[in-house]
Amino acid sequence: MTTRSAIKSSAMKMSHPHRTKMHAATQSQPEFVETFAYDAPPLKQTNALMNQTTTTNVDGKIDIEYARARIPAELPRSKRLQVEERIKKLLIEKNAVLVAHYYVDPYIQDLALATGGCVGDSLEMARFGQAHSADTLVVAGVRFMGESAKILSMEKTVLMADLEAECSLDLGCPIEEFSAFCDAHPDRTVVVYANTSAEVKARADWVVTSSIGLEIVTHLHNRGEKLIWGPDRHLGNFIQKKTGADMLLWQGSCIVHNEFKATELVQLKNEHPDAVVLVHPESPDSVVELADVVGSTSKLLSATKDMDASTFIVATDLGILHEMQKQSPNKRFLAAPTAGESATCKSCAFCPWMAMNGLEGIEHALNTNSGEIILDKKLATRALLPLQRMLDFAAEHKKRVQASGDIVKDRPLFQNVGAA
Ligand code: 13P
Ligand code: SF4
Repeated sequence: MTTRSAIKSSAMKMSHPHRTKMHAATQSQPEFVETFAYDAPPLKQTNALMNQTTTTNVDGKIDIEYARARIPAELPRSKRLQVEERIKKLLIEKNAVLVAHYYVDPYIQDLALATGGCVGDSLEMARFGQAHSADTLVVAGVRFMGESAKILSMEKTVLMADLEAECSLDLGCPIEEFSAFCDAHPDRTVVVYANTSAEVKARADWVVTSSIGLEIVTHLHNRGEKLIWGPDRHLGNFIQKKTGADMLLWQGSCIVHNEFKATELVQLKNEHPDAVVLVHPESPDSVVELADVVGSTSKLLSATKDMDASTFIVATDLGILHEMQKQSPNKRFLAAPTAGESATCKSCAFCPWMAMNGLEGIEHALNTNSGEIILDKKLATRALLPLQRMLDFAAEHKKRVQASGDIVKDRPLFQNVGAA
């Protein structure tokens, strides 16, 4: 089994209210203890990413060092197995199910599949959680995914290993500013990416994810609607170019995908002329233009199974390589080059907030009901409208999902939900 890069650090315990200005980290640089088993970047280069302390976003500086300091250390094998066994028991006792994103620790992904949960992109996670009969959803991803799960199932308990697992897109789209932006253009339909707070969703007419955004915007454009799009400017730009829709774009970005660099990708393509280039549409335009396939995490995964190529260059969070390699063990996966503030950083795309999900955090949440997503009922009811609109649209256009909890049976239902 491939294991996700882990960062050894004693987690800084400091109070850190959600979506408020972040603390400057005071700890020394964390140390990498393990890297991917496939074409992983050399340790020295990976460590270069650690020198990147802040990333500018639409609302100023976002301190990713804080997130890194909370990434749990990788557990020794024997301890990990014990924790996994205890989680399995707790899931049964609590009638709970684990819903994981492709970017989280591969051990968590494998545990989700082994226990009848799901591993998917953000749309599949939302659909799976809503359709499942469990009393408790344990969401291994980032906070907006937990909030979406709660909005869709207010009657369920939704737990997360760490409630401070954020997303730069969400952080870069505060409700007050976004709402003022919408108020300034009252004639426009408001379409927001799922990577937003419940408050921003509640301000929107539609929520979309990367796997269905293109279809929904095409639909709205065909109806003659002019749009506000937020918060990811790259995905918005990609969809705008594809559809020709009239879209005003919020200028947010993902700190992971924004780092992929076209010049270095061209070099890598030249070294591997037969490789297929897979790009998540949160990446810059210049990188998307070099792609053979552009799409959500699930769409990129499907491409690695369906296409004949033996080598793939992947421009998204490295966590996805685990499932890609598992599903196509004889194919080769190369991480697309990135360059952070340090020009020596190569192929080190990984989301620090996704990495905050740890097995012990999941066990703790299940044991104590800590990390529970609590949402105001009125807010959730309003946010449900655009979110449910997306799911209904997906169901109309694709096969309706009825999750049985049997992942082998359910898996085909979640494939190819839509083209991004
Ligand atoms: P997906 O919708 O492709 O899962 O993307 C969510 C995300 O956060 C990607 O960075
Ligand atoms: Fe947000 Fe980017 Fe992390 Fe996805 S990878 S959760 S978009 S910061």
